[in-house]
Amino acid sequence: MLLLLYVTTVSCVLFGGSSAEFFEKRMCYGRTLRLPFSFTPPLFNGQLYFTPKNGGSRKLVMDKDEAKESRLKISIGSVELTDLTERDEGTFSVSVDDAMPYDVIKLQIVECAYRMYRNYGKSYSYTVPRQTEFVDFTPLHGEDLPRVLWNRTDPQDNKGSRWQMKGFIWEIKNVNQADSGYYNFRKKDNTLLSRIRLTVKENNRHYNTNVNERLLIQNPTFVATWTVTFTPAGEVENNTLMEAGNLVTDDSRIRIVPKGIEIDPVNIIDSGTFEFRDQQGYLAQIVIVEVELEPLPLVLHPYVYVAITGGIIFAVVVCCCCVKKCCCKNSSSKSHESAPETAAAPAVYYHDLIEPAGPSYSVAPGEHTTTSLEPSVEPLGGQEGDPAPTFGSDCRSSDPVPKFELKRQPIPSAVPLVSDSIFCDVYTSDKLNFL
Ligand SMILES: *[C@@H]1O[C@H](CO)[C@@H](O)[C@H](O)[C@H]1NC(C)=O
Ligand SMILES: *[C@@H]1O[C@H](CO)[C@@H](O)[C@H](O)[C@H]1NC(C)=O
Repeated sequence: MLLLLYVTTVSCVLFGGSSAEFFEKRMCYGRTLRLPFSFTPPLFNGQLYFTPKNGGSRKLVMDKDEAKESRLKISIGSVELTDLTERDEGTFSVSVDDAMPYDVIKLQIVECAYRMYRNYGKSYSYTVPRQTEFVDFTPLHGEDLPRVLWNRTDPQDNKGSRWQMKGFIWEIKNVNQADSGYYNFRKKDNTLLSRIRLTVKENNRHYNTNVNERLLIQNPTFVATWTVTFTPAGEVENNTLMEAGNLVTDDSRIRIVPKGIEIDPVNIIDSGTFEFRDQQGYLAQIVIVEVELEPLPLVLHPYVYVAITGGIIFAVVVCCCCVKKCCCKNSSSKSHESAPETAAAPAVYYHDLIEPAGPSYSVAPGEHTTTSLEPSVEPLGGQEGDPAPTFGSDCRSSDPVPKFELKRQPIPSAVPLVSDSIFCDVYTSDKLNFL
């Protein structure tokens, strides 16, 4: 069966042109692209070219059995392009017997890194794959080349830095925005074992308070050398309140306490946004303060009291009349009263029923988002055991697709006029068998 498959592929190449196979491939960053068997030596004896997607000219990557690109690994019956990155997005074409090259593979690179989030000042740790030999890092923003952070053969190199490898646990302490980026955990031969995308965000606090109270705005972490700016609510311009841990305001209500900044007594003008930055300028915390006026004590005009007293007396009188009237009624009316009471009961019960259904519904979209984030390509996890997807799999993939064949059961011709309804019954039961 497999042989037959190869023969078909070869014939496509030999009798060439428009009938040749064309593959569209989506592959995770860092994976290995395996060329179809028909483009591997000794079967293939032509040239393989690559044209980048984002401009750039066509370049030769393989000439017969000779690699023209360092990441291209050629052996008998196998051609692999390792360590795929965005620069490999584009089209591969082949040329046989100096004919015009024709396109055979269109490659798209997908980011399959695990997404992680941490707040400024927290720690991040990750259990690395056992075979990890080194860790490299590319910042989230900027085109910087990957930087090797840790190397098993030279582990002392990064002493004193915030990151470290303890056994198989990779840890970054006291993260800041500069730690946002891609962490690649690689084998000695550069094979990507795992990839993490870390995003570091500032902390957020929100204080609601009343005028004349004491307000403590807590520092983001225990370090005390913050630079704090304040932007009053509704304004754009900011004022510096604290510079590298020292107050730069002559407002006597504001002072530094061990845990943060204290404002006592707080005023309406203190409403606004406080931004805490560290000495390198990374945003550690955003604090929003809302100060409200204290609720005013109730002071009313004497006439209002008179009106309220009158109202109460009137209500009491009306009530008494009602009670009297009710007592005069005969007992038979009780059975009438009980009827609406029971009618009202289901409404309450219904409401109670609705309540627990709410949260379970709101969970559903969340689950949906998670699944949609998962790329349709193989993730990096568990890469050691499973081989990179081969092109053969494209051909094979067609068989597990379930086919819904409608099995009509023969209806006995002897069945008289009612046959229609009988057919319906048969059809429904067949359908149910699939479910
Ligand atoms: C790791 O360190 C060894 C020895 O210093 C060096 O030969 C190797 O190139 C380093 N690996 C990386 C990826 O930097
Ligand atoms: C404060 O204002 C100055 C000038 O308007 C601006 O350059 C700076 O980025 C602002 N700082 C913050 C923390 O908003």
